[in-house]
Amino acid sequence: MFKAYEISDTMLHNFRVGMLSYQFAFHLGLGIETATELLVAGMFHDIGKFKIDRELLNKPGKLSEKEYEVVKKHLEYSVSITRALNFDEKIIHLIENHHENFDQTGYYNRKPDVPSMIIRMADFYDSLTSNRVYRDAFDRTEALDIMKENSNCFEPVLFTQFCMFLEPGIQLNPMAIGF
Ligand SMILES: [Fe+2]
Repeated sequence: MFKAYEISDTMLHNFRVGMLSYQFAFHLGLGIETATELLVAGMFHDIGKFKIDRELLNKPGKLSEKEYEVVKKHLEYSVSITRALNFDEKIIHLIENHHENFDQTGYYNRKPDVPSMIIRMADFYDSLTSNRVYRDAFDRTEALDIMKENSNCFEPVLFTQFCMFLEPGIQLNPMAIGF
């Protein structure tokens, strides 16, 4: 049994990534179906982290190769949990590809499609703008600067759109668009 405080950080991260992906998809005009798939995928993309040792997830500094391999397993756990729950394969595809980079240097070295790249950017951004046990959250400008330094991860036009979308500051509000 997990205690609420133990799961809240991952659950809130999932929620924010889902909302940010959803709103950005609307901004791009991708339509309700893709936006909703992104919302659900975001909300479950890291659910597999509950099967990974919490101390390892919160470990400051660089992980050893072995530790990194253990952390990476959260992806296959997220996929197997959502598949066991009979999620649509399109949603599982997004979850499975949320660590893929534009230059094919992600977990599986795959070329991500546009919806997978959206969830990748939302995940990256939310991780940077969240407090960690070992560091404070970066603000929006700092986070986008760090993302620019890692521009190999993102498709350039999509990333430019993402920066413009976040420019005025974003309120994650499901009531604002379509629910
Ligand atoms: Fe992840």
